[in-house]
Amino acid sequence: MDDIIVNEPAADDRVDPQCWFDSTGPLELEIGCGKGGFLLRRAQQYPDRRLIGIEWANKFYKYAADRMARWGVSNVRMIRMDAEPFVKFNLPDACLTSLFVFHPDPWPKRRHNKRRLIQTPFVDAVVRVLVPGGLWAIQTDHVDYFEQIREVVSACPDLGEIGFDEADFCTENDRIETNFEIKYRREGRAIYRLAVKKTQPNLC
Ligand SMILES: C[S@@+](CC[C@H](N)C(=O)[O-])C[C@H]1O[C@@H](n2cnc3c(N)ncnc32)[C@H](O)[C@@H]1O
Repeated sequence: MDDIIVNEPAADDRVDPQCWFDSTGPLELEIGCGKGGFLLRRAQQYPDRRLIGIEWANKFYKYAADRMARWGVSNVRMIRMDAEPFVKFNLPDACLTSLFVFHPDPWPKRRHNKRRLIQTPFVDAVVRVLVPGGLWAIQTDHVDYFEQIREVVSACPDLGEIGFDEADFCTENDRIETNFEIKYRREGRAIYRLAVKKTQPNLC
């Protein structure tokens, strides 16, 4: 389990996440990985990719890290911290090929809306850390949050919407469902999805 856990970086420390792995290659991040169902299956499905799972709730973080260790996946690292400063301040530029944010806490009370993760400054930080052509997949069961997400993400000129099922992580047949997705699907709740790609710079 020690191999899987990465200590929380200092607030102003720009890290090189590739150093946390035994080899270099595409790097993916899942924010709020909960019990780690998606993270584990994604790591098993793509052993050539490196995955970071970030989760701030100690109970889920420990559960997920233990799960990764029990399954012996060597391409996962886990950090217990708030994902917002990690993306904004700790990650270097253009390091992620994919970012997954599935069922982020919706903070449904109006006076708590400001605590939501996906707001314009966070979107700007995501653009900074994605490689050109990098993908960001978002999924929620909360329609009000989804509308806000769509508004702030579509206002960003560096991100272009793609079909959720077109993205390499989401094709209909090999979609890896998250724990919350499975639960909500069984309850018959609607699930709202958005996938975007960071535009490539003009190379002329
Ligand atoms: C509703 S659960 C969804 C879990 C999982 N993504 C799924 O779809 O099954 C949201 C998770 O994100 C975690 N979380 C929320 N905000 C976070 C943040 N800013 N940084 C790290 N973890 C966060 C919560 O602790 C919780 O485990």
